[in-house]
Amino acid sequence: MRKPSAHEHFVNFGRCPSLNSLILYFIIVIALITVLSSPYPTTWNSIGQSPVPYIYRNYRKLREQTTSDLSEIQAFSFGITPLGELQFCGKERDNHVPCYNVSANLLAGFHDGDEIDRHCEVDDVDTGCLVRPPKDYKIPLRWPAGKDIIWSGNVKITNDQFLSSGSMKKRMMLLEDNQIAFHSEDGLTFDGVKDYSRQIAEMIGLGSDSEFLQAGVRTVLDMECGFGSFGAHLFSLKLMTICIAAYEVFGSQVQLNLERGLPAIIGSFVSRQLPYPSLSFDMVHCAQCGISWDKKDGAFLIEVDRLLKPGGYFVLTLSTSKAKGSSLGARNSIIFTFIEEFAQKICWSLLGEQDESFIWQKTAGFNCYESRKQGAVPLCTEEDEESYNKPLLACLSGTTSKRWVPIQNTSNWLAGSKWNLEELDIHEVHPDEFIEDLSASETAIKDYWSLLTPLIFSDHPKRPGDEDPLPPFNMVRNVMDMNANFGGLNAALLEAGKSVWVMNVIPTGVRNTLPLILGRGFAGVLHNWCEPFPTYPRTYDLLHAMGLLSHYLTLEKCDLSALLLEMDRILRPEGWVVLHDKVQVIEKARALVTQIRWDARVIESKSDNDQRLLICQKPFLRK
Ligand SMILES: *[C@@H]1O[C@H](CO)[C@@H](O)[C@H](O)[C@H]1NC(C)=O
Ligand SMILES: *[C@@H]1O[C@H](CO)[C@@H](O)[C@H](O)[C@H]1NC(C)=O
Repeated sequence: MRKPSAHEHFVNFGRCPSLNSLILYFIIVIALITVLSSPYPTTWNSIGQSPVPYIYRNYRKLREQTTSDLSEIQAFSFGITPLGELQFCGKERDNHVPCYNVSANLLAGFHDGDEIDRHCEVDDVDTGCLVRPPKDYKIPLRWPAGKDIIWSGNVKITNDQFLSSGSMKKRMMLLEDNQIAFHSEDGLTFDGVKDYSRQIAEMIGLGSDSEFLQAGVRTVLDMECGFGSFGAHLFSLKLMTICIAAYEVFGSQVQLNLERGLPAIIGSFVSRQLPYPSLSFDMVHCAQCGISWDKKDGAFLIEVDRLLKPGGYFVLTLSTSKAKGSSLGARNSIIFTFIEEFAQKICWSLLGEQDESFIWQKTAGFNCYESRKQGAVPLCTEEDEESYNKPLLACLSGTTSKRWVPIQNTSNWLAGSKWNLEELDIHEVHPDEFIEDLSASETAIKDYWSLLTPLIFSDHPKRPGDEDPLPPFNMVRNVMDMNANFGGLNAALLEAGKSVWVMNVIPTGVRNTLPLILGRGFAGVLHNWCEPFPTYPRTYDLLHAMGLLSHYLTLEKCDLSALLLEMDRILRPEGWVVLHDKVQVIEKARALVTQIRWDARVIESKSDNDQRLLICQKPFLRK
């Protein structure tokens, strides 16, 4: 146990301290924390000027603000003693992901497979402790070396999983020095992932897989992606693949993909929609993904239809062993028969087949829907754009959307930082707001990136606009933009030549721009930040949140300290956080991040007096 500090003695002295003395006490502590720990913030956008001592100029204002915010802060700090740093969680939480407690789900009455799904409402997520890295944790290797070699101590994996690593989709090797090597070249099938990818391209009618982009295929959802070889290969062809896989305690595909620096997220087909709007992806890929497509009256196929854009592709590769086991081959499997029959009811056409692989194409026009007979799956009457955490549908969505445009017509549309008037129009985005987001991000990224150095916390801090730090400080690969807007940060990072990918999160309650982001070839997901994010601990290198905290404090009214703790969980040691928000919110966050032991510094904005940056780094706290 930690020895009680002098402050604690002070409180414990009188058994029932009066309210006044408690309030006084809180003011002192919070003012001290805030003032002492941010002595010389530099002035943002004021290169060359000497830093203005923040404490004198703002002390009075700060003290007034502190008093008025006192009751709020007490409420935010639920689960956190206001006195000091948080305690560490036990070892059992090293690789823990909240919301997937099967025994708690069963107790709450979930069954028929639903107990393995995400249920935050029944999980006791408010632990109020800091997750520490496992004993052997090491900072990941830099990209691109880190794509093929990871530290075995960083992931939760059993020896059995190495031994069974001959499985086609999951091939990896244990090396000396506690490293795991992945072979990108020979994964998925016996012919290797390159051949597999070319085979898919040919089945679609393309000359080679380098023509995917021209055919309008830019964003792929890979279900139960194994260790991500297919996505890694498509990545080299400039396609974006998001791996989505169920929560797994050991050898998690999501944890391994993210450790390799490949986009992945926890999600599963059980009873609810995946966290994406309708008409989001150009291709949905399932290679031996273990989904029972023939169950629930085809509801999983209806969900794939919802996710696919018009003219998009569903690629299914059935299990090789099963197909070989039955002398009749994959075409006579129950799953193929069911899908081929169901395809008539949802207007998919079988485009090609080869060995165990099949490709269906979603209809690009409406003729098929109009000409269908009785027994067909009905069209949804009102488009259900509210796709976050909703039950699976029994109708086809997206048909009334302005975004109903066949992917084959969109191949020359915007990608990355380029944009196209027609595409902005179908997303109902005005070019001015789009361009503004992009140029603001381009300016911001120069500042942010140059601030990502431990120098920022020294007595002679680095200034915005200074040269980029030398390696190894800029080891950033997995970036999360927690409130991504139009994906401007992502575009600016790529424009600046950083070899990163960004998980563009569109929080619930803000304008849903995710289809536009995915259309640009970026990764993303919908998420309610009042709940834990569906990922493993230590999976992101940099978290960026602009305007997110104020949104959640004022509109969603959730707990700021819980949100910061969750950010700490998903951030790897020595990872960075950039919070960009209103002064008052940053001040609150500043007090709280001290409790979760981040190094932090407030940066003022000269162009906007009401805004601040809070640059934080998570320390590497060893066991
Ligand atoms: C899971 O839920 C059970 C039953 O509520 C509880 O006893 C257990 O501590 C929980 N496990 C974790 C890791 O939170
Ligand atoms: C897509 O392209 C085809 C062929 O050029 C054209 O006939 C069709 O109207 C286009 N559809 C849309 C929605 O733009």
